Amino acid sequence: LVRVTEAAALAAARMVGRGDKEGADQAAVDAMRFVLDSVSMDGVVVIGEGEKDKAPMLYNGERIGDRSLPEVDVAVDPLEGTRLTALGMPSAIAVIALAERGAMFSPGPIVYMEKIAGGPEIADLLDLDRPLGETLGLIAERKQVDIRDVMVVMLDRERHHEAMREVREAGARVRLILDGDVSAAMLAVSDNTPVDLLWGIGGTPEGVISAAAIKSIGGQLLGRLWPRDDEERQAALDGGYDLERVLDCDALVAGEDVFFSATGVTDGDVLQGVRYQGARGATTESLVMRSRSGTVRRISARHDRTKLRGLTGVRYG
Ligand code: FBP
Repeated sequence: LVRVTEAAALAAARMVGRGDKEGADQAAVDAMRFVLDSVSMDGVVVIGEGEKDKAPMLYNGERIGDRSLPEVDVAVDPLEGTRLTALGMPSAIAVIALAERGAMFSPGPIVYMEKIAGGPEIADLLDLDRPLGETLGLIAERKQVDIRDVMVVMLDRERHHEAMREVREAGARVRLILDGDVSAAMLAVSDNTPVDLLWGIGGTPEGVISAAAIKSIGGQLLGRLWPRDDEERQAALDGGYDLERVLDCDALVAGEDVFFSATGVTDGDVLQGVRYQGARGATTESLVMRSRSGTVRRISARHDRTKLRGLTGVRYG
């Protein structure tokens, strides 16, 4: 699996700072799709690049892998942070998650989800209904720190302005990110990082992918579907979705055998990005995890792009 995200990251990294979101995403999708066929699995894409007619590859429902066992659900985000990549900004990653067939929550027509995530120490304090300022007070108490030390990461969006005000009024601090709430969720649940909590409305697919990571790292993410308008609300209800339901990591990704791999594209707090070395070389950093064992591996790799290209035909940056 790590080859899959390494290939996507290496391909996307060539597009860093080129101002071309679509081109960067396409490079990542192409490389990821190619390597996926060598993975021993009978996979169905549950979270992919969208519907078949709009996405030529890695569309929802596509069968991937070499068709051998195990049968799995697959969530991919070949480039999480397309704009970050296009602008040469931090924390773009390539990511894939696998779980037993039928285990992954399918977001259906609902693009956004409310999310709150934090590490194991504060997992039981997470609540989507309690005022944010109160939750921050409880977190400070639990961590035995001053509330002025507590840091909340959120996407910089107008829809979060009220919450930003609440955090600041409570005396806590906000870290705004342009994009990339999967990285941010990993940062929020990990030990020894400057961030205590992720809060905000972000992509539903990204919520499922974050949950897959958290099943190995530890901590919790709670999500609740957030329809943008009446039409989306109705489509969700027609599709049998419960809009009141609070989904925890086990509801978003059920089962105990969840695999996850992410590779940095641009440098970030969680992963270092791709670095080119000389004419042929490149280095990558990846996080690879499995929930059953709870093993989290950080893998630094040095690649010979010319040899890789000779082996696979894929252009690795
Ligand atoms: P892409 O890079 O796949 O476009 O997603 C980036 C992202 O910032 C996600 O991390 C986040 O969940 C979502 O977009 C937020 O959506 P929006 O930009 O519409 O607020």
